[in-house]
Amino acid sequence: MDFDFHKKHDLVLVVDFGAQYAQLIARRVRELNIYSEIIPYKATAEEIQSKNPSALIFSGGPASVYESGAVSIDPKIYDLKIPILGICYGFQLIAKDLNGVVSKNDVAEYGKTYTSKADSSTLLKDIPDNFSTWMSHRDSVTKVPDRFSVIASTEETKVAAFESSSLNIYGVQWHPEVIHSEYGQTLLKNFLVECANLKQDWTNNSIIDEAIDEVRQTVGDKKVICALSGGVDSAVAATIVQRAIGDSLTCVFIDHGLLRAGEAEQVTNDFVALTHIKLEVLDAKKNFFSQLNGITDPEQKRKIIGAQFIRAFEEATKQIAADQDIEFLVQGTLYPDVVESGGGSGTDVIKSHHNVGGLPDDLKFKLIEPLRNLFKDEVRQIGLDLGLPRDIIFRHPFPGPGLAIRIIGEVNDHNIDIVRRADLIVRQEFGQANLDAEIWQCPVVLLADVRSVGVQGDSRTYGHPIVLRPVTSQDAMTADWAKIPYDILEKVSTRITNEIPEVNRVILDITSKPPGSIEWE
Ligand code: XMP
Repeated sequence: MDFDFHKKHDLVLVVDFGAQYAQLIARRVRELNIYSEIIPYKATAEEIQSKNPSALIFSGGPASVYESGAVSIDPKIYDLKIPILGICYGFQLIAKDLNGVVSKNDVAEYGKTYTSKADSSTLLKDIPDNFSTWMSHRDSVTKVPDRFSVIASTEETKVAAFESSSLNIYGVQWHPEVIHSEYGQTLLKNFLVECANLKQDWTNNSIIDEAIDEVRQTVGDKKVICALSGGVDSAVAATIVQRAIGDSLTCVFIDHGLLRAGEAEQVTNDFVALTHIKLEVLDAKKNFFSQLNGITDPEQKRKIIGAQFIRAFEEATKQIAADQDIEFLVQGTLYPDVVESGGGSGTDVIKSHHNVGGLPDDLKFKLIEPLRNLFKDEVRQIGLDLGLPRDIIFRHPFPGPGLAIRIIGEVNDHNIDIVRRADLIVRQEFGQANLDAEIWQCPVVLLADVRSVGVQGDSRTYGHPIVLRPVTSQDAMTADWAKIPYDILEKVSTRITNEIPEVNRVILDITSKPPGSIEWE
């Protein structure tokens, strides 16, 4: 099922020319309470028209519009009479397509650039005469198409922005979506509200109400199942579905014994008490631990856990299905997964990235994905509006295979207990120092296969090291090691070695990604 917010709201389509900015533009539009989606530049005019957008934004792109093989757009799009805003590459493409001229500049403009308004315009309403913008270009528009006027210039670029109110087409050379451009949101709002006449009515309340309605209509009186992981996505998705259909939803929590301290209880006690969700808990610890017995190879651990998870989920489903017919499965798929796996046309895409700890794609259920059109920060906001606890909403990413891949060596009760206690100390201290929002995550790793000599009291010890891996990141694809203040590191180190007798050394991982991955296994 799809959640067609644009049935009830204006839709802005961001045409993606391959820049890294399309998702950012879409999010900025949504921050104005206007719903937006991303569409690849290859979409035809018919495909675009079939989505009935109220405005189009052409994104930036890496190429020059005159290079051979430069990406372009179906020219029939200009005949649809939909308001268009072009940004950077999108701006130059409009100029070229409508018979203006784009040429190479002698001087490129990168970064902060002073920009001046050239003529009165709707696009730059409520923006001062001089302001700073963020640029990244070598080509420039040197002649505007007919019926366009120049509305802003910089020292190097005479045509830094243009406007045609009769065609309802606009363009800017700079990137209004990045925070370094002053008045970026004012400009986007001017385009969407003043020029294109859109309504700003896509709010969190409307998102929740409409998602609940849609689930109700899709499910009817059928039964639904959902696997809870303890993470924010499945918790928010399940809460929406529960609000829609109550006890026709059964959630399953597979306790594999590899979660961090307090996380299983957070799901089985706190979350249930708060939402009144119907929950089946499957205690699968013994199975997971006996299968992992003696295994130290990371890939083998992941495979075993993945396979065990599926087996446990099937077992839980069978038990539930014994007295009810289940037709739907809830998944917490998010919009970036949809965009990255092909642009959002299919409704049956299952997360492929790091699918360990997820479900196979041949399950016989129809999918319900209430978050598939939302970004992570939107899901978090909705989770807060639904009244879910901040501990769940702002939980750092945690891998499906859990603590098993944070033990270098064998996964057993003893080692899990050590890494779990160390992890708890780190979370407590980082939390107290308000570091949670500043870092992406901090895996805590036990080197169970390594021992080193130490001295505690008067006696020699031969214990294990614990590694701290605090990182900052935007999306986990790349990461930097986080510069945690020394006094906090010192406190963590002292507490770990004092409170966990098996550990006599604490190590800080200062590798970026690449070359290191975030997790150690
Ligand atoms: P790496 O170690 O590849 O991690 O740099 C990138 C991000 O993904 C998380 N991660 C996983 N998440 N199942 C998951 O759901 C997994 O198997 C898995 N392995 C790594 C990791 O915590 C980091 O945020």
